[in-house]
Amino acid sequence: MCGIVAAAAQRDVAALLIVGLKALEYRGYDSSGVAVLDNGTIRRVRAKGKVREMEALYLADPFPGGTGIAHTRWATHGVPNEANAHPHVAGRVAIVHNGIIENHVSLRAELQARGHVFTSQTDTEVMAALIDERIGQGMHLREAVLATVRELEGAYAIAVISSDEPGRVVGARRGAPLLVGVGIGENFLGSDAQALIQVTNRMIYLDEGDVVEISRDSVQVYALDGRPVERPVYESELSTDAVERGEYRHYMQKEIFEQPRAVADTLESRIGPHGVLPNIFGSDSEAMLERTRGLHLVACGTSYHAGLVAKYWIEEFARLPVSVEVASEYRYREAVVPVDTLFVAISQSGETADTLAALRESRRRGYLGTLAICNVPESSLVREADLKLMTRAGPEIGVASTKAFTTQLAALALLALELARRNGLDPQRYAALCAELQHLPRALENALQLEPAIIALAGEFIHHQHALFLGRGVQYPVALEGSLKLKEISYIHAEAYPAGELKHGPLALVDEEMPVVAVAPNGPLLDKLKSNLQEVRARGGRLIVFADGAAGMDDMATYGAMLRVESGGSFIAPAVFTVPLQLLAYHVAVLRGTDVDQPRNLAKSVTVE
Ligand code: M6R
Repeated sequence: MCGIVAAAAQRDVAALLIVGLKALEYRGYDSSGVAVLDNGTIRRVRAKGKVREMEALYLADPFPGGTGIAHTRWATHGVPNEANAHPHVAGRVAIVHNGIIENHVSLRAELQARGHVFTSQTDTEVMAALIDERIGQGMHLREAVLATVRELEGAYAIAVISSDEPGRVVGARRGAPLLVGVGIGENFLGSDAQALIQVTNRMIYLDEGDVVEISRDSVQVYALDGRPVERPVYESELSTDAVERGEYRHYMQKEIFEQPRAVADTLESRIGPHGVLPNIFGSDSEAMLERTRGLHLVACGTSYHAGLVAKYWIEEFARLPVSVEVASEYRYREAVVPVDTLFVAISQSGETADTLAALRESRRRGYLGTLAICNVPESSLVREADLKLMTRAGPEIGVASTKAFTTQLAALALLALELARRNGLDPQRYAALCAELQHLPRALENALQLEPAIIALAGEFIHHQHALFLGRGVQYPVALEGSLKLKEISYIHAEAYPAGELKHGPLALVDEEMPVVAVAPNGPLLDKLKSNLQEVRARGGRLIVFADGAAGMDDMATYGAMLRVESGGSFIAPAVFTVPLQLLAYHVAVLRGTDVDQPRNLAKSVTVE
């Protein structure tokens, strides 16, 4: 999704801003640009494609200047081309913008009626024109921004410069993240901490509706009504090492291999020899968890799949009803909320627009309270939820979620166990499940050993255009996650089904051209799954089987040998069996030569609806 970097400094900032944009490339984008105030004149360079293409244009004709704004754009209004790339300029104003302005059509028409001519199809250029018009009427940049954002409907994070006010950048946010990087004799704006960590680790996270004015030596935040407000400065724990790719070929591969450590970090100080430790959801959690009689889990994409796994766990161990829903549906549905239901939002980034909107919507629906399971401590989701449990995956750069998923499962497993203990799960069973969960990092290590076998398999897989993934029970969401991974990075069309559903339609697709991937650890439903797999074999289907050596599985595969995964127990098996599916998607994508870390059309953090 779009990214913003801006700076007010004594040194020339264009090259610095380009470094910041490179740190934001992981978010996904299709054009980029920089604008700087050079002796009171706006100098700008923009290009479709990668930041390095825009950088080459800049290097061919560099410009000085200590005040600037920069952007990576993920197209929403208007195709990805140079004219639609940010920064947009109107008169003396240049602006970069993340988000979508919903009333831009009427605002554009009003401006056109007043004689304004637009050069792009974007909603952003409308903002530039409105701000410039107000400066023309005698307002300062900050006043003009404040007056303009009050008129906007929709979501925005913006950074604006004016040739009338060298040395000053004004930012504003509502519905999209923006933070201030506090430097020494220079200050910055960024859409996430990664854009700024090269220059400072001191950050101010802006609240909804905030407007901020930065210069080299000052930062002042204002509420939407124009009142100056104080916002605390945090020391970010993000390290520049954490965002390096190291010896790995892609971030995704690095992140797959980081899973044992990330899961161990997520469990650390939260589960001990006697079970889940007290107050891991925060000091206010005791009464809320005690009263919880049901849960609504809401998320998008991979995080939604984590929620689906948790439903099986919580219903089985805690005997509480759980519903799981994608956030973009939930927010527009009149969900019935039984008394004492806990709302749980799951998100890696904590900035996903639909998930955030669902959390906000939940406030008026009468829940017992809200819990965020999230990877980014400073995110909007974490700041707005009543309770939080952080996953400790560290920065995830690859667009395809990997360690975010398994750490979400670890966090949700803690939630399931905590609720199970409160709801009378047999203590011996509780202790056994806790022990299994503590074994998860080791089991993930073992699963990673399958990489060579999966590389061999990937070589055959790449020629197919379609694939089916099958699982039963709690393995069905794992199949969903495996198929999502394959389609998003290899562009092979993949679908997942609960295996029992096969004969109700998808079996018609099965022939010798259709690889069918079965997620088949031992468990109460394995015999049922075996019957479903026999149905595939009988139709000549190409079966790839991930199993843990249970009887009757050895000869099931018809495509390569059965791939043996040590599950470490049926509770943690969903997390463990996800690893070979991630590796399969990764190696198929590498062999097909796709852009693994930044697959086409996708963004890391989906901050627009
Ligand atoms: O940051 P979030 O967990 O809220 O993101 C949700 C989805 O956008 C995300 O999981 C997406 O589906 C991933 N690209 C999947 O790999």
